[in-house]
Amino acid sequence: MEVIDILSRWTHIGTAVVIIGGSVFLRFVIYPIVSKLPEDQHLALRSAIISRWKMFVHVGILLFLVSGFYNYIKAMPDREGQKIYHMLIGTKMLLAFGLFFLSSLLVGRSGLAEKVRTRMAYWQTVGIVLGAIIIGISGYVKVAVPAKPPAQTTSATEVQATTSSAVDSQPANNQATPVEPTRSE
Ligand code: HEM
Repeated sequence: MEVIDILSRWTHIGTAVVIIGGSVFLRFVIYPIVSKLPEDQHLALRSAIISRWKMFVHVGILLFLVSGFYNYIKAMPDREGQKIYHMLIGTKMLLAFGLFFLSSLLVGRSGLAEKVRTRMAYWQTVGIVLGAIIIGISGYVKVAVPAKPPAQTTSATEVQATTSSAVDSQPANNQATPVEPTRSE
């Protein structure tokens, strides 16, 4: 249904705007300020930011997955046999899973998450670069790998309408030609 297709696209692109935009803001605006604070204030502010941002990351991953796979399933019929399309979207999915894992670690509570956060700025930059590559692949696919035009399906009614209009526009050969009146001498 067209409404769901539009909603899914809106959700997908909107999520990319919020998550990647938010990550750029955190890395290049918030981080340089917070990292200059005394250690205890730095850690307190960082954990407050993480506990709020975490919700955006988790909901974002869910929205990416639902809208992304919906988009992919809907695109299938027009992309049949287009190896390059499936290859690029497959690569994009792998990178996206990498990004989801990294983003979860940056807001997570495990030992590995704590370790990753000791190089916060570095891993945030890696995430942003991954996001930029993913957006690049998505845009390239959209612009440079055009979908095949949908197969023409003509309904029986359309066939009938076409045939009858074609018949109507034919010169009426089968009509009786007016016969010149013959003069009798
Ligand atoms: C497993 C996760 C994902 C899947 C399955 C997925 C799948 C898709 C599909 C099938 C499209 C439509 C491509 C087309 O035929 O035109 C698309 C578009 C798009 N995706 Fe994703 N995606 C995922 C994650 C992401 C992520 C993490 C980002 C951002 C970092 C992203 C950004 C975009 C953008 C910006 C578009 C629109 C491209 C355009 O129309 O110009 N996607 N995605």
